Amino acid sequence: MNTAVAGLQRLSIAGVRARLHASVVGRQLYLFEQVESTNVTLGRLARSGAREGTVVLADEQTAGRGRLGQPWFSPPGVNLYASVLFRQSLALEEVPLFSFIAGLALADAVKLAGAKPAIKWPNDVLVDGCKVGGALLECAARGDVLDYLVVGIGANLNVSLDALNGALGPTAAGATSLRAVTGGEVDRDAFAADYLNALDAWARRFRDKGPEPIVEAWRDRDILTGRQVEIRGGKGGPFVGRVAGVDAQGLLLVQDAVGERRTVSAEEIRLCD
Ligand code: BTN
Repeated sequence: MNTAVAGLQRLSIAGVRARLHASVVGRQLYLFEQVESTNVTLGRLARSGAREGTVVLADEQTAGRGRLGQPWFSPPGVNLYASVLFRQSLALEEVPLFSFIAGLALADAVKLAGAKPAIKWPNDVLVDGCKVGGALLECAARGDVLDYLVVGIGANLNVSLDALNGALGPTAAGATSLRAVTGGEVDRDAFAADYLNALDAWARRFRDKGPEPIVEAWRDRDILTGRQVEIRGGKGGPFVGRVAGVDAQGLLLVQDAVGERRTVSAEEIRLCD
């Protein structure tokens, strides 16, 4: 059961289903009023045998998780918190491509909502340079092969900039919501369905055609290539360099100050120029 928040459109399974035409994603759809994290809930379902395509949505998260161990601000009634289960037989080195798949799908939904999205590696979706959403992938493996993959996205849809400021402090300067950029209330059911449809389509493209069309589409929306960045949190300590692009597995290639090309997999990237 999901309670309405006064004045806000409530998220509903029927509303999402009405617009959903995905073949795999959303075969099983759960909506919770409040969870710790949709990724955690779906991970539990995965371990008890949930099918590929199972989706967990929540109206609120009490311990939403972001990338790099950061919390994800998840107030009730305003945004989208969604996790989707994949059980494709994948080698572990192919998993980062799902980060691109999630970013592409989120960017598609943002575009359908009337904004112009760009992607900052690996899957931050930005509008006018500010982040509206991102993805966190969590997986379990048997040896070198994937057992299951949980693709979780959070999207700031109708949250107010005041609430973002209050919760994120100085980081809020780099964040926004779709309502703030489009000037209109976002229909959360429609946005959820658009995202799930797009995720299904990109995942199918990957299954049928391999990584090339994914990486190519991602490159078209990438804002980092050619930019000067600072990389933090990697093994060799922080460094500054110019982004040369991404490799076939979706890892970021950065040329450092002495001209050496380094591969970046999960570090924090800050734009310098
Ligand atoms: C990021 O840091 O950019 C990734 C944010 C991912 C947040 C989503 S909200 C739904 C899912 N459940 C979580 O706990 N995290 C992801």
